[in-house]
Amino acid sequence: MRKKIVAANWKMNMNSSTGEKLVNGILNGLPVLNENQKVVICPPFPYLAMVQNETKNVPNLHVGAQNAHAQESGAYTGEVSAGMLKEMGIEYVILGHSERREYNHETNAQLKEKVDRVLSEGLHVIFCCGESLATRDANTQNDFVENQLTESLFHLDAEKYSHISIAYEPIWAIGTGRTATAQQAQDMHAHIRKVISKKYGADLANDLTILYGGSCKASNAAELFSNPDVDGGLIGGASLKSADFLPIVEAMIKAK
Ligand code: PGA
Repeated sequence: MRKKIVAANWKMNMNSSTGEKLVNGILNGLPVLNENQKVVICPPFPYLAMVQNETKNVPNLHVGAQNAHAQESGAYTGEVSAGMLKEMGIEYVILGHSERREYNHETNAQLKEKVDRVLSEGLHVIFCCGESLATRDANTQNDFVENQLTESLFHLDAEKYSHISIAYEPIWAIGTGRTATAQQAQDMHAHIRKVISKKYGADLANDLTILYGGSCKASNAAELFSNPDVDGGLIGGASLKSADFLPIVEAMIKAK
């Protein structure tokens, strides 16, 4: 059965004290989640252990990293391996965020290797895709996103998809306050599901969780999540205050 997820992407924000307050605020207001409703908190690496500690007894609340390296180990100064994350009990890893594609020049081919490494450790990948404004203006977003999926995910065997969720994040909507309309999100999510279905069959595509990200907030989450192919969100700015984040979790629970 398809799971719903709301994931918090703190990016390079918070410190240990504001981060801890945020987690406690979330825990204080967190509604009861069932097995098909997940909340994933993705802090910067130095705060993973703290968030892990604070949340360890909360069912269906998980901790994720924002990146992992493609290699198992070795001379990669400044990098963190999926095995290290696994060892500390981290369950999710965001891969392919557009900020990493832009500032760290991550390519579809490199992301394919990262996906393999993270899956080989048994962790769950939240794989980000999404087009720039220029691509949207040229109306080639469907082909662009299809190519991102093809080049980074389509080498995988079908059974790996139980450990994959996709986050559609149009770059023009990230941190800009300019959210995709509910219709734009639904259209792309339906396209992604169709592309997955063509390659892996309708059952697998139907079970796949596809999140929307990009200026998703309390005021628009319910409308976005009411779409049949939008299964939750990857939340940046609105994940940094519990009062902003919790209504988005509520919207996920109430949707459909
Ligand atoms: P935003 O970021 O919610 O601040 O737009 C989303 C993301 O980049 O994951």
